[in-house]
Amino acid sequence: HGTSKINDKGHLQIGGCDTIDLVERFGTPLYVMDEALIRQRCREYVEAFRASGLKFQVAYASKAFCVMAMCRIAEEEGMSLDVVSDGELYTALQAGFPAERIHFHGNNKSPQEIEMAIDAQIGCFVVDNMVELHMLNAIAGEKRQKVNILFRLTPGVEAHTHEYISTGQIDSKFGLDLDNGSAYRAVQEAIALPYIELLGVHSHIGSQIFEVEGFQLAVDKVIAFAAKVRDELDVLFSVVNLGGGFGIRYVDGDTPLPVAKYVEAITSSVKENFGKYGYPVPEIWVEPGRSIVGDSGTTLYTVGTYKDIPGVRKYVAVDGGMADNPRPALYEARYEAMLANRAGEAEDELVSIAGKCCESGDMLIWDIQLPKVNSGDILAVSCTGAYNYAMASNYNRIRRPAVVFVKDGEADIVVKRESYDNIVGNDVVPSRMKQVSK
Ligand code: LLP
Repeated sequence: HGTSKINDKGHLQIGGCDTIDLVERFGTPLYVMDEALIRQRCREYVEAFRASGLKFQVAYASKAFCVMAMCRIAEEEGMSLDVVSDGELYTALQAGFPAERIHFHGNNKSPQEIEMAIDAQIGCFVVDNMVELHMLNAIAGEKRQKVNILFRLTPGVEAHTHEYISTGQIDSKFGLDLDNGSAYRAVQEAIALPYIELLGVHSHIGSQIFEVEGFQLAVDKVIAFAAKVRDELDVLFSVVNLGGGFGIRYVDGDTPLPVAKYVEAITSSVKENFGKYGYPVPEIWVEPGRSIVGDSGTTLYTVGTYKDIPGVRKYVAVDGGMADNPRPALYEARYEAMLANRAGEAEDELVSIAGKCCESGDMLIWDIQLPKVNSGDILAVSCTGAYNYAMASNYNRIRRPAVVFVKDGEADIVVKRESYDNIVGNDVVPSRMKQVSK
């Protein structure tokens, strides 16, 4: 998919770059991102919304992969940006991302994060709870600067492919409940606050969702709420944000729809429902993360050791693992892989891919058919663009890999491989301990 293909040498090629050349230049593990495919995914959203005729913003959920070069792409493609921490906000601002297109999420923003965001004059806060609402009003008041907000609702719609990543049920740490009156009271309070400008509401129903029904159900709930608030409190929402969660294909059996289909289902459901209530159709925002960057990423690893346990399984170990991709260990997430240096060869053995961390749960793939694997082979795991680098850790003091963007035969480092200095750089040996000179 994307610009990936097998070249004359039988090597996997992405963005016009031979992955084996990339390995020689940059080493492994290496995250390779197909820039053209990232841009294509951005455009699919923007174009589908344009076709709907509605006012919209597509906010890239930067949590999926937040580095400065990615913020530049989002900016160039006309996207807005969803951030959830001071670190993501800082990255966006350092990349020169226009502050008015930044939306700040999170269920526990600190006073310092709120100040930073107000000072930067970001476009909107997505307010999660009442503690935050009042803190935001107070800080904005000190600065004599009104802030735009959406309220995050808990719509009670459950749509998920794994329970750890569902965020839409009632029993959730996120958002204000629609059914028990919390959301209604929040609107009542917000409209009385002098430094709060309530633009509308937000709902996010989960992640890696394939069906459109969940989104349609969320629209139903949101419009019913909007209409009640209009009729009883005389408040009109100008923005409705329907969150992210659009699924991608990691392995056979994953059945996502094309981006345009999700957008079309949402926009037509919005038009229909708001029309039914005679409600002026608000601006629609969405926040895709995974579906923007997920399938653009490929991680390249070097195969090291292996061991065959006759009649049981053959373990093949690579030079990365849960430190660069914790998703299999965390969510039992599944991935496909191939040998990048022998891409055309027939598969003839069943193996399981282990990482190098000191933990038996550090497995990347259970049971995959590959050509007979040798030490030194390059394994390419696909669809690692979302929530991989973003969730990478230094467990076992492993240095985080480099990230390269490839496009039209060029490869650019967008994140350098961490150095040993990065590893010990923040360590301090207290002065009462014996100091050693190096
Ligand atoms: N908006 C909100 C409010 C969210 O909470 C999320 C994801 C998104 C947008 C973007 O969702 P996406 O389009 O990427 O599905 N670490 C997990 C995924 C956690 C998603 C959390 N929220 C994973 O690796 O699968």
